[in-house]
Amino acid sequence: MDEYFAEDAQRQGASDPNDPERFVGLAIAENKLVWDLLEPRFNAPRGIEQWSIGYDDFAGSQRFRTAIVSFAAAHLGYHDSDPDSIVVLAGAGTILETLSYVIGDPGEGILVPTPSYAGYWADIETRDAMTVVPAHMEPDTDFRLDTDVLEAAYTSSPVPIRALLITNPVYPTGQILTNKEVDHAIGWARSRGLHIFMNEIYALSTFGNTPFISARSLLDGPAQDVHFVWAFSKDFGMSGLRVGILQSDNESVIAAVREIAYWGSVSGDTQHFLASLIEDDVFVTAYLAKMRLRLKESHQRTSVAMKQAGIPVIDSNAGLFVLGDFRGFLTEQSWQAEHNLWRRILDEANVNLTPGASCHLGMPGYMRVCFAREPATTVEGAIERIAQVLDSIER
Ligand SMILES: Cc1ncc(COP(=O)(O)O)c(C=O)c1O
Repeated sequence: MDEYFAEDAQRQGASDPNDPERFVGLAIAENKLVWDLLEPRFNAPRGIEQWSIGYDDFAGSQRFRTAIVSFAAAHLGYHDSDPDSIVVLAGAGTILETLSYVIGDPGEGILVPTPSYAGYWADIETRDAMTVVPAHMEPDTDFRLDTDVLEAAYTSSPVPIRALLITNPVYPTGQILTNKEVDHAIGWARSRGLHIFMNEIYALSTFGNTPFISARSLLDGPAQDVHFVWAFSKDFGMSGLRVGILQSDNESVIAAVREIAYWGSVSGDTQHFLASLIEDDVFVTAYLAKMRLRLKESHQRTSVAMKQAGIPVIDSNAGLFVLGDFRGFLTEQSWQAEHNLWRRILDEANVNLTPGASCHLGMPGYMRVCFAREPATTVEGAIERIAQVLDSIER
């Protein structure tokens, strides 16, 4: 487990909510700004029926997968999918692990543009015995996806590459890829005969003027080589329910995932609850509008506070975090100096950030700040505390 993750769990548990200097965790990517919108649904009687607490299709009940098709068409841009192209498993992590297992072989690689979600390494390398091959995007383009960098990483990879894994909206920069960037990346991967995993887990957490368009709506009809991942974890703030979705038009891939779905299946009660929720499109549409407004405000206030603290941020319009450039505060440009700064902020400001090393950046000095795990006022207060630590650094 990454150090920042362990510190968060430990300090969160020990912190006194009434202490003004209490621990503030801005490291874990969760949306806790929406509970009041969801709470009435969670605490209302569920009208549960007996069939939903028994054995069912381990890849997701027919009712839930049918509801997902309508929801995905209306909100994710997955047009013309059908319930048989959907599998439901315990979170996006389980989907990615299972997909890699099914498509790859031990010893093969999955190409991942960085900076990136740290969990891919655990998802792909632990049980699947595959290797994540990073393609480090460049800071002078704000790490935008570049097929030349993909090509260079592909060509110099020590292992044969099986798939390209793209996260859009991008983790942890919060950018939305343009259609052209997505097209280029898919075209490049196809020219190399790779499968493409499109992780769109932040698809609905958008708050700027750039609309998010799923790569599925850019494809000319069903594709055998592009597989889509989404989950309730981020856009619905339900990371603990463990519900991830795979959409693929490749029948062999779906059949193989189904064979092992039993080991990662989702509770029938949860499927019943979520099916009822997403079948209610009036609720979903209103929820999404409010959720986005809250993200927009928190994002804006966080970015302003960071800039005032002298920390440049990468412009973003999606996700739950901003990537700050702390390079100017490092005593030297090294991973050890980044770790030392992260540790000082944790110990002196009592604020936990995600160090860039955990996002597998190509260079030290960046840290990610989640703006949706605490109310904006708390985030602003935490950034003020960080500013005091930064001011005391001799440079
Ligand atoms: C980009 C990305 N993919 C996958 C996951 C894992 O999602 P889940 O909790 O649904 O397994 C996360 C969680 O932080 C993420 O940020």
